[in-house]
Amino acid sequence: MMTPVRTWNRKDLIGIEELSRPEIELILDTAPQFVAVSARESGIKKVPLLQGRLVVNWFYEPSTRTRTSFELAAKRLSADTLSIAASASSSVKGESLHDTLANIEAMHSDIIVLRHYYAGAPHMLAKRHASHIINAGDGRHEHPTQALLDAYTMLDHVRTLRGDRHATLDGLRVALIGDVAHSRVARSNIWCLTKLGARVVLCGPRTLMPPEIGRMGVDVSYNLHEAIHDADVIYALRIQLERQQSCLFPSLREYIKLFRIDRESLKVAPPHALIMHPGPINRDVELAAEVADSSRSVVLQQVTNGVAVRMAVMHLLANQPGRRTAPAATEERAP
Ligand code: CP
Repeated sequence: MMTPVRTWNRKDLIGIEELSRPEIELILDTAPQFVAVSARESGIKKVPLLQGRLVVNWFYEPSTRTRTSFELAAKRLSADTLSIAASASSSVKGESLHDTLANIEAMHSDIIVLRHYYAGAPHMLAKRHASHIINAGDGRHEHPTQALLDAYTMLDHVRTLRGDRHATLDGLRVALIGDVAHSRVARSNIWCLTKLGARVVLCGPRTLMPPEIGRMGVDVSYNLHEAIHDADVIYALRIQLERQQSCLFPSLREYIKLFRIDRESLKVAPPHALIMHPGPINRDVELAAEVADSSRSVVLQQVTNGVAVRMAVMHLLANQPGRRTAPAATEERAP
């Protein structure tokens, strides 16, 4: 049995792949105090844990949930916040990521929340800059805080259902349905859920399933009924139409017929199965509107929990005594 870690020792949060189970559990165990902050009856939804710190939201791709969630989380921790939209920054004039960040750091940033279309961009910056870097989604690689808020939502549900506040995700059956190939959410969730002891089955068209994905310790099915008949959680992934250079399935109609989560397909699923989706939803494509809006859907609960989980992540990163170092300040910088 692994010893629970009670201290955080990482400068950055780049991916779930490199985290241990105790590290993931530390984040999940830190979140409830921040759920309580957001739900305060007094209406004062703030704590001073990041007072005087600067959190910079730096997004190269569109985002509704992640960007607003990080901004709100930072504000609820009493941090100062700045937002940089790539289209309005000097990157359009050719400035490199390193130079942009060096200039932001010259204004004494503490935490950088980066979403970038290049897999590996947050990792590259984290190696060379002193700010705490949080990956808010990099290409098809990872979206770690999405997986953490998803795990928190599942854990909260399981604990409530079983009346056991120490219940874990061990043995939970989670079906991830849809566009696995393009999904950083799927990759982070696979790492997170398997590390937490859940059993994960992936299901979707063969053309949207990466070869060798089974090596990540998951089952793979190409039949929706087979994937969801014993699922505790059915997690629909967004069909990423914007990332598909070629038609990877014959038509949306075909996809809907075979893989949509709707009232009809849910007839084979256990009645207790939770419905989840990371958003934004293509309504009536991967998830029927009637199911997305039903009482078994926790889609908006995921969003609510996202703020608390991101508060937990920023608190752990920024408030660890003596951990912040300036790595390789003299190292040669890539263009
Ligand atoms: N789930 C998610 O990443 O949503 P956004 O793209 O709106 O941030």
